[in-house]
Amino acid sequence: MTTNDIVRGFSKLTEEEKRNFIARLCNDSLQAEDRLERFLMEDETERSHFLELSENTISSFHTPYGIAPNVVVNGKVYHVPMAIEESSVVAAASHSARFWAERGGFRVTELSTVKLGHVYFRWFGDPAYIRERWHQLKLFLLERLKKITSNMVRRGGGILSLELLDETISIVHLYKLELKVETINSMGANFVNTCLEDMAEALDLFFTVDDITSEKKLQVAMAILSNYTPECTVTVEASCEIEHLKPIAGRLPVEVFADKLCLAYQIAQNDPSRAVTHNKGIMNGVDAVLMATGNDYRAAEAAAHAYAARDGQYRALSVCSVNNGMLAIKLTIPLAVGTVGGITNLHPLARLSLEILGNPTAKELMGIVASVGLASNFAAIRSLVTTGIQKGHMRLHLSNILNMLNVNNGQREEAELYFSNRKVSFNAVKHFLHEINH
Ligand code: MEV
Repeated sequence: MTTNDIVRGFSKLTEEEKRNFIARLCNDSLQAEDRLERFLMEDETERSHFLELSENTISSFHTPYGIAPNVVVNGKVYHVPMAIEESSVVAAASHSARFWAERGGFRVTELSTVKLGHVYFRWFGDPAYIRERWHQLKLFLLERLKKITSNMVRRGGGILSLELLDETISIVHLYKLELKVETINSMGANFVNTCLEDMAEALDLFFTVDDITSEKKLQVAMAILSNYTPECTVTVEASCEIEHLKPIAGRLPVEVFADKLCLAYQIAQNDPSRAVTHNKGIMNGVDAVLMATGNDYRAAEAAAHAYAARDGQYRALSVCSVNNGMLAIKLTIPLAVGTVGGITNLHPLARLSLEILGNPTAKELMGIVASVGLASNFAAIRSLVTTGIQKGHMRLHLSNILNMLNVNNGQREEAELYFSNRKVSFNAVKHFLHEINH
């Protein structure tokens, strides 16, 4: 067996056989198999539930699970779980959250939770005919949807609107049905897709019954929710008097510091190269909370970046301003999150994260996630306009290198002292250890 051989029937192997098969691809297959096994949960039931979340699972891939304490959102204090492997993100979000907590915290100023989905289809018949029949078709589709939506309606959600949109200007014969839905505390992907697939089937049925004699004039292309959720956004803000920036302004006078902060945010509004990195700093916080609460961070990433380019140019999602001696920061971001359904109930730590947050509603969670995003963003910009980000990274960077090199406690202490005022790099640390060991 070489790495170039096609393997057939892999999914049919037992979990142990899969592990064994994959371990044989590694230099030390015994060690590889042992490692894959060591990272599995001990409890049989938990382990099998966890592994069944995905397919072809042979182990679990661990990510550090930390807490950003004291995130104040609308006057309520949250100690927020974050799952992220990147060093400094949790520390930076924590410092920033604490800073803003002492200045009133974050305020959610706007919130909407509408989800969208589409059925795309081609209509080869007379365009006027489909417009004429639209009212009747709409009633037919909505009536059929009632059996799927009754539970959601009972919980306060359901269908908000259904529209027929003519897309023939961009693609010949193409139309789409646009469904707007309120999904309350669930992210709603399954619910929206079930509604859409039912509509696709009903669409076909409606025109077949309608026009049984003619050749087929309708072709459904696909039915799928949209991860672009410009109507499912949250806006969070924080503000303080410029004077109160003193503890974090470093050597800069507060006015200069505030001005540099605003300039950094302005650059990210105007220059896409900078905007991408600026938004990455927001998503550091956002994704970590989404991961920890079992939410779909890929959906959030895709939506956030599309939203950042909504006027045709990619821009920063957050802004900073100074008015009448007050500095204000603000973030608006699309966030389709759930606190019920999906893996929020299945992943043991996701469930616990929600408990730590006091079992929030989806809207409350949107506010928390966005606040951690803004806290992370502010921490990054603050470092960039004062000390630079490397200083903060160095301690953890050094610790990671020392772990990689398996040093003992004595060597660690000597290295920490030596590198407290020197540049850290893998080679520099290796060289230093070589010197002290010989
Ligand atoms: C690093 O993960 C994130 C930053 O690059 C964000 C930024 O530059 O604003 C520090």
